[in-house]
Amino acid sequence: MFPDIDSTLQAIFRWFHIIAGITWIGHLYFFNFVNLPFQGGLDKELKPKVNPPLVLRALYFFRWGAMWTFLFGLALFYLIYIRGGAIKDAEGHLSERGMWILLGGLLGTIMWFNVWFVIWPRQKKILGAMLGGPAAPPTAAPQAALASKVNTYLSGPMMWGMVAGSHVNIWPMTWGTFIVAMILAIGLIHGLYAVSRKVKTTV
Ligand code: HEM
Repeated sequence: MFPDIDSTLQAIFRWFHIIAGITWIGHLYFFNFVNLPFQGGLDKELKPKVNPPLVLRALYFFRWGAMWTFLFGLALFYLIYIRGGAIKDAEGHLSERGMWILLGGLLGTIMWFNVWFVIWPRQKKILGAMLGGPAAPPTAAPQAALASKVNTYLSGPMMWGMVAGSHVNIWPMTWGTFIVAMILAIGLIHGLYAVSRKVKTTV
């Protein structure tokens, strides 16, 4: 009548994980495909007025989205792959599902690290300076921008690894599927950057 406790927890954790992931990656794409071109056209003297209230709000959902995605992701990994045994195939080797999720989970973990230990500490200095605090070191903005760009490019392959694992019956892990997936995933992000520079801001 009602599924066992592990299946119930898995369904709940998966749902929280995806909602948090949407919140995180949605804001990442807002920063890279909307805010980046927008900032290029914003007058310098307007930045201290516009940026702290806008960017600090967005950074709140961005970094906490990343944290909850990561925590629920680890919980799912433990439930499905360690406790549930999906990390191994019938012969006791690393399973194909395991290979995909290790790829997705590793890239997601690198992205989470970048959010909490590269982007957020530097953004605090940049926005703190706009709010009257000490001047940010000149390296802060380029380093934060680079980490944000790396995360945007990683998000395509990460997402593929994340969703391919539970569908290995239709998308197995071979060199062919891996290479096609990576070309598509990185190519799409590259295309989105190109589109973001051309979006019309008139009607
Ligand atoms: C931060 C590190 C992350 C870890 C450690 C992680 C871990 C996991 C694990 C273990 C699963 C279960 C996979 C399975 O059933 O085989 C999963 C599923 C999923 N994750 Fe993540 N994840 C991370 C980041 C993300 C991010 C950023 C997103 C973006 C939205 C995301 C979206 C998803 C989705 C959509 C599924 C469901 C896949 C399916 O059922 O087909 N994950 N994740």
